[in-house]
This record gives sequence, C-alpha cells and structure tokens, in this order.
Amino acid sequence: MNSKKWRLNMPDKNYEPKIVAFFCNWCTYTASDLAGVSRLKYAPNVKVIRIMCSGRVDPQFILQAFASGADGVLIGGCHPGDCHYSEGNYKMLRRFRLLKRMLHSLGIDDERFRLEWISASEGEKVKTVINDMVEKLKVLGPLSIPKQINILDEELKEISEEHSEPLTAREELSHV
Ligand code: FES
Repeated sequence: MNSKKWRLNMPDKNYEPKIVAFFCNWCTYTASDLAGVSRLKYAPNVKVIRIMCSGRVDPQFILQAFASGADGVLIGGCHPGDCHYSEGNYKMLRRFRLLKRMLHSLGIDDERFRLEWISASEGEKVKTVINDMVEKLKVLGPLSIPKQINILDEELKEISEEHSEPLTAREELSHV
C-alpha cells in the first residue's frame, strides 16, 4: 500500500468530525437558536449556514462542502407541509434522494449526508441530531477528500513525469 495512503488511514483518537449544516431560516435555524437559548448542549463540530429554505440548497453546495473538507453534511428544513415557500422541502427531499445515491456510488457512507425536518420549537431535536451525527462520524473516521485529491494529484504528476517522452506514432499504433 502507498505509505501516504497508509498515514491517511491511521486512527486518530483526537479526531473531531467537521459538519457543515444548512438550516432553513424559519424552522431549523430558529430551533438551533432555541437550543442555544435553552442551554441545550450539542457538539461544537457544526458550522451552520442559514438559508431561507431547504429548497435553496443546490447540490453544488453539498459537493463543495465535502470537497472543502467536511466529514458530513446536514440539512435541516421545515416539516412536510410547513415550508414557508410551499414546496421547497419537497424539492430538497427529491434532490437528497438523488444525491444520496450518487454519493453512495462514490464511496461516501450514507451516514455522512443527512436530511432532517426540525420545526422552530424542536431545539431538543437539533441537539439530538447533531450529537448523534457526530458520534456516527467519529466511528467512520475522517473523509479527507482534500487530502485524497492531493494524493491523486501527486500520482497523476508522477505518471505524467514518467511518460513525459511522447510516444512515436509507431509506438502509439502498436497499442491499437
Ligand atoms: S421554508 Fe423551511 S424548508 Fe422551506
């Protein structure tokens, strides 16, 4: 095994997962505020991004979060039927199902991408969901996509250096 990959997979007992959370302004963001005001303790591993509606979450935001080093992405929206923009959360649910399949096929564990309906009064649920996700991600360990991209880049660089001599047309055609 490549020594760089081996180092990447070493267990780290001090590992703290990084979660990017997209919370709808009207429900889950308000609930996270309520959790704070009520002094409910949840793990500090989450960076919350406030959006007006869960339907505003573009698939690109999720891929970008993982590519930038997130170990997990959490989306919080209003319960079905309660979206302030009528159908935003249904749109998110459809995108979520598609993205989940895509991420799964890329080898990203299902636990790393989560969608939860949390209303403004459910501060306790915010705490429970975040703490649960942190515990599950600790078991899975770091995703480290930026490091893996660097390893891939180095491997590609080595390959291109090894093959810097262009093949002749005869050599090229001998492989056909
Ligand atoms: S307004 Fe909350 S999910 Fe649409």
